[in-house]
Amino acid sequence: MSTDSTGSDDGPVTEEITITVNGTDVTAAVEPRLKLSDFLRYECDQHGVRVGCEHGVCGACTVQQDGRTVKSCLSYAVQADGAEIETVEGLAAEDGSLHPIQEAFHETHALQCGFCTSGFVMAAKELLEENPDPSREEIETGLADNICRCTGYQNIYEAVERAAERMEE
Ligand code: FES
Ligand code: FES
Repeated sequence: MSTDSTGSDDGPVTEEITITVNGTDVTAAVEPRLKLSDFLRYECDQHGVRVGCEHGVCGACTVQQDGRTVKSCLSYAVQADGAEIETVEGLAAEDGSLHPIQEAFHETHALQCGFCTSGFVMAAKELLEENPDPSREEIETGLADNICRCTGYQNIYEAVERAAERMEE
């Protein structure tokens, strides 16, 4: 509900929203213009959500919303009211053990600066949920919405292949 629908000197217009972030309900009063990526980073401390291009091109901000990947720079937090969001911070188990995709990225050295990594991991998660045994070509297509400036991609593709094997076990 708007706390100020007039935009007067009483302060900015805000709307109360509740989003489930990595299993925890977060309620906040936000301006309608607040991007989902900024909500996750600054209201929820999920700094694994990276902001690169803010134009939907690089995929660094990729998260899952209700089980599907979205580029969180392209939507507003108010649009995710009532949704379940998973970021890379939600992947590790409670005891701290890494998700198989995270393990595989680590083992195959699938990152250099790491800026793109969380977006790639979330995109890989959706890919493997839909297609547990992807070919190299399907992996390349599945990750085509994400850009890495460092790695040359080969180790990222190897990581997804290794994660697929491990998740099948
Ligand atoms: S920051 Fe969202 S796609 Fe680049
Ligand atoms: S590891 Fe640096 S951008 Fe991908």
